[in-house]
Amino acid sequence: MGISAPDFAYVRGLVRQRSAIDLQPGKEYLVESRLISVARAAGADDLSSLVSRIRAGDERLQEAVVDAMTTNETSWFRDVHPFDAFTSQLLPEIATTSQSKEIVVWSAGCSTGQEAYSLAMLLLDWLPAHPGFGARIIGTDISRSVIERAQRARYSQLEVNRGLRAPQLVAHFDQVGRDWVLREQVRRLCRFQQGNLVEPLLGLPMCDVVFLRNVLIYFDLDTKRAVLANVRTVLRPGGFLVLGGAESTLNLDAVFERLELGRAVVFRHTGGTR
Ligand SMILES: C[S@@+](CC[C@H](N)C(=O)[O-])C[C@H]1O[C@@H](n2cnc3c(N)ncnc32)[C@H](O)[C@@H]1O
Repeated sequence: MGISAPDFAYVRGLVRQRSAIDLQPGKEYLVESRLISVARAAGADDLSSLVSRIRAGDERLQEAVVDAMTTNETSWFRDVHPFDAFTSQLLPEIATTSQSKEIVVWSAGCSTGQEAYSLAMLLLDWLPAHPGFGARIIGTDISRSVIERAQRARYSQLEVNRGLRAPQLVAHFDQVGRDWVLREQVRRLCRFQQGNLVEPLLGLPMCDVVFLRNVLIYFDLDTKRAVLANVRTVLRPGGFLVLGGAESTLNLDAVFERLELGRAVVFRHTGGTR
């Protein structure tokens, strides 16, 4: 099932408009391979009839296409160093500066929830030694299907094998059939909602820390700037932005100050506006 040049251009425009994900020419193969399952599920004979239905304004199919074009790769405690810095450096500093006594963390582009739940496990260890403090983690993602998976908190053996240590598995999961279901003690710290990082972030509280990892890579320069400006509106001055290993605010947003904390790099919101 190949995709014609006009259909590729149409899908590229749709995905860009809805998610800001930039599918450069050359990504035709990726689009074809991802859309085949959407076409099958929709009962379309081939990609061209799928795209005709999308062009005709089938809203549900349009969302399915955008969803299928997101890359949801994630794992528990991914790249580990930011999580070490979170416990050893960020939490102690936030605890001394927090006025609300509630640690608020946003996992932006949270995929199926592993990042948010990894943070929740760390907070669950931290809270008993800090009486009077509470914590909540908000996970958001543009893809409805990954948000539903995060809310279900049910993971396969393959998924729990990626980054969880045996004691963490035993402490926080119940085995149900061949899957592992996260216990309420971790889940209750987290809530998940669908949201587009390029649009105004309605309903998010002010955050102490934003994990925005491995998401900016899908955007062009102007969109990266717009997303960072958006993130700033909900990150309190003095709060921390954590990006993916290959990402930086350099040349994108001068309001952030780069800090090296052990083997992790984080960006502090200096409180400026530009
Ligand atoms: C590669 S995953 C990263 C998951 C996690 N942050 C990590 O590092 O393990 C990127 C996520 O960003 C989401 N995403 C892409 N564009 C988005 C947008 N415009 N708004 C919100 N989420 C978006 C995708 O759906 C995907 O789940």
